[in-house]
Amino acid sequence: MPELAYVNGRVTPVSEATVSIEDRGFQFADGVYEVARSYNGKPIDLDRHLARMGRSAAMLDLPLPMSLSELQHVAEGFYASSHLPEAVLYLQLTRGAGPRQHVGAPGLTPTLVMTVRPVLRTTPAEFTVITVPNNRWLMCACKSVALLPAVLAKHEAVKAGADEAIFVADDGTVLEGASDNIFAVKAGVYYTPRADGRILAGITRERVLEQLAARGAEVRVGDMTINFLRAADEAFITSSVLTVVPVVGIDGRPIGDGKIGSAATAVKEDYWRFIREVTA
Ligand code: PDD
Repeated sequence: MPELAYVNGRVTPVSEATVSIEDRGFQFADGVYEVARSYNGKPIDLDRHLARMGRSAAMLDLPLPMSLSELQHVAEGFYASSHLPEAVLYLQLTRGAGPRQHVGAPGLTPTLVMTVRPVLRTTPAEFTVITVPNNRWLMCACKSVALLPAVLAKHEAVKAGADEAIFVADDGTVLEGASDNIFAVKAGVYYTPRADGRILAGITRERVLEQLAARGAEVRVGDMTINFLRAADEAFITSSVLTVVPVVGIDGRPIGDGKIGSAATAVKEDYWRFIREVTA
């Protein structure tokens, strides 16, 4: 079965899918996106991803082409047609194609693109990270397709021999990874930055916070400095694609003893138990 694409209702192999060169996603990054994982033929938390897509679109005054429940129906139908049990489902919505002028002309037809592809990479056992200055805009709660700072940060990480880059604000506040959220663990307490406009409110982050609350763990959602993260006992990142990955090193130095710790392992096990439950 080929990797499938959906472009405004038309389903084709990815290699045959096209959008206009005048699409505002291509010209201006004038669009939003979502990425969800599926296991055993079921997308995880698709409703939460689509709700966030609705919020992201609203932040750009970008009208949805259909209601969220219709979008869910269309996305599930498209995904099911791939017959891929383990997949990455990608959705992108742009303001549509039109003459290149900054203000979108009224009446443009939004472009809704989806792809479903097999999972190429298994979840890595552990990550090392570097820190990078936060050179992003002020609306990071919006999952916009304008990902150049994330692309460049990942590039820096790979050049440094690391797996991920963590954005740190000028005042030393830790924000998030280029494509994931970050948690630290110190003396049994879990810490993660608050989901204000400076980070994306990750769906996996939200699930992990719910699971930590359910087992009565002590959690502090708030500001975390880079010095605090460097001195943590453990750290881990969360994302829909990677799930939960322990972070064992930062800027070339170990976090804690530099080994995968019991707290990150417990969080990962909780999350995978949840996946097994909802996809059984
Ligand atoms: N990235 N922070 C950023 C900046 C992200 O891009 C992502 C997701 C996350 C984690 O969110 P979630 O748990 O909802 O996946 C946090 C996706 C996977 C991507 O861009 O490919």
